[in-house]
Amino acid sequence: MKILVLNGPNLNMLGIREPDIYGKRTYADLETYIHNAAEEFGAEVEIFQSNYEGELVTHIQNAYGKVDGIIINAAAYTHTSVAILDAIKAVAIPTIEVHLSDIQQRESFRHLSYISMVAQQTICGMGFEGYREAIRLLCM
Ligand code: DQA
Repeated sequence: MKILVLNGPNLNMLGIREPDIYGKRTYADLETYIHNAAEEFGAEVEIFQSNYEGELVTHIQNAYGKVDGIIINAAAYTHTSVAILDAIKAVAIPTIEVHLSDIQQRESFRHLSYISMVAQQTICGMGFEGYREAIRLLCM
């Protein structure tokens, strides 16, 4: 099972960014966590983070025919990006959406997720554990 994990804008600022919401662990900690979870389930993962919408779209397009599943935390693009939605639809790769925080319990502008329109499942508010759960679900 080959999995592409995509993380959107400002997630590279984990540890510094709003620690009361996102915690004190860093982005490097998240990468280590994801690699460990992948090993646990015998999956192969590539992790990519970008602050640019187009780079995320290109990564999704390049995954066509190469990966079995996508895990995406599109961060702020979750709430705005038809381009990312269309890219996931285009490649038709099983996709799980993850958010560290519970977007439904936050500001109303975070309640709309374009990614949810195509994702098999959305995991919110579980912190790093959400990525492990997404890997587990893709490996089932
Ligand atoms: C986030 C939630 C988004 O609303 C926000 O813009 C983020 C992170 C999360 O993981 O909780 O950047 O996707």
